[in-house]
Amino acid sequence: MKFFIDTANLDQIREANELGVLDGVTTNPSLMAKEGIRGEENCRKHYIAICEIVKGDVSAEVISTDYEGMIKEGTELAALHPNIVVKVPCIADGIRAIKYFTDNGIRTNCTLVFSPGQALLAAKAGATYVSPFVGRLDDIASDGIELVEKIVDMYRYYGFQTQVLAASIRSTQHIIQCIQAGADVATCPLSAIKGLLKHPLTDSGLAKFLEDYRKVNS
Ligand code: G3P
Repeated sequence: MKFFIDTANLDQIREANELGVLDGVTTNPSLMAKEGIRGEENCRKHYIAICEIVKGDVSAEVISTDYEGMIKEGTELAALHPNIVVKVPCIADGIRAIKYFTDNGIRTNCTLVFSPGQALLAAKAGATYVSPFVGRLDDIASDGIELVEKIVDMYRYYGFQTQVLAASIRSTQHIIQCIQAGADVATCPLSAIKGLLKHPLTDSGLAKFLEDYRKVNS
């Protein structure tokens, strides 16, 4: 399973990248706003800065909600860097835009996906990635991981090439569940990725190894 980091924070992206296991980055307008990045030009500069840190796909989301606007914006975003993946919301014009981008060699991430039916449309339009939002479904007492499982099963059954990118991941446990569900990618906050490292037996085992080493080497 590939690991993306879900942030527009350059320090966090650098820290995750230094671990050596980062495969890409996802952003969205809320994450860009959180970093105080405003205006089209600054957003685009920021996407390029992210692409210069990470060797992997970087999702940059369109703001337009109409077909023509998405095509113009997405084409400009894709031209910023070869690793840019155009993130498009799962609405009717978005599906049409994904089909256009697919036909024109531009890679896409279909976002805000909350049902297998939406994921089917994204795959039929040729999306590179589909992003089911795990945490937001859990927030409304639904089951986000179950949706990931259903999409993975559907794509395998029909042979769709679209990769399942589990998004809205909130915890380390979500990452483990994504592995079990067969997600191709999980895009996670840095804290959830770092949580994978934590185990008390690793810490106590390492302390004992070092203590024993010191006993005979001091
Ligand atoms: O990439 C989409 C994801 O960032 C949404 O996460 O935590 O805002 O539901 P969240």
